[in-house]
Amino acid sequence: MPILSVSNLNAYYDKLEVLHNVSLKIEKGERVAVLGPNGAGKTTLLKAICGLVSYKGDIEFKGFNLNRLKPYERIKRGIAICPEGRRIFSRLSVEDNLSIVNRDTNLAYELFPQLRSKRREKAKNLSGGEQQMLAIARALLLKPELLLLDEPSMGLAPIVVESLAEVINSISKDVSILMVEQNMQLASDIAERCYILSSGRITYEGCIDEIDIKAYFK
Ligand SMILES: Nc1ncnc2c1ncn2[C@@H]1O[C@H](COP(=O)(O)OP(=O)(O)OP(=O)(O)O)[C@@H](O)[C@H]1O
Ligand SMILES: [Mg+2]
Repeated sequence: MPILSVSNLNAYYDKLEVLHNVSLKIEKGERVAVLGPNGAGKTTLLKAICGLVSYKGDIEFKGFNLNRLKPYERIKRGIAICPEGRRIFSRLSVEDNLSIVNRDTNLAYELFPQLRSKRREKAKNLSGGEQQMLAIARALLLKPELLLLDEPSMGLAPIVVESLAEVINSISKDVSILMVEQNMQLASDIAERCYILSSGRITYEGCIDEIDIKAYFK
């Protein structure tokens, strides 16, 4: 049974439909990327999975239909999101950002040792890459079975993106990952399989190494 199954999803902002008949599946332990240009509907897809936009269709997590569940109930079942733009509390320390979610912050520092030495530092004083690590660490402290990552590479220099790929690859394979990205390098470093979302529709599904980049930008 897939850990996540999205079937015939249409998502809406008021009456505006921005996702059209989107279906995708993620197996347990799998790392899957959704690629697509600005405005394709990538963030909206993650919001729908979290119950943050209205939608028609079915979203199942471990065989359980989430449609009637509120966002916090979805989190309790094991879904965590690392949102677009990170959304960390910039004036709080690293430690406080983490302990809001889970008083036992050790797991975060074991995964990201770089954060340990900055635990008393205000989050706004971290580099972009460290802030992204903090946002991912915070999501992982919820001990999710499915981690949703919204453009983790955003605003980061290529070399930082490389080290971010290492960090994400070091996350336990018990955590399945659905990542939306525009950075092909990061996506192919992490995901085995991908979907391309274009103007709210899935236009490709398959192995990430076989993608024709021109088709991706059509
Ligand atoms: N709060 C909103 N109200 C109305 N329309 C919205 C809202 N948020 C997004 N949209 C529209 O929905 C469509 C999909 O947006 P979405 O943010 O999901 O795209 P995206 O693929 O994440 O883009 P990006 O790569 O720029 O983050 C766009 O046309 C956008 O204008
Ligand atoms: Mg987005």
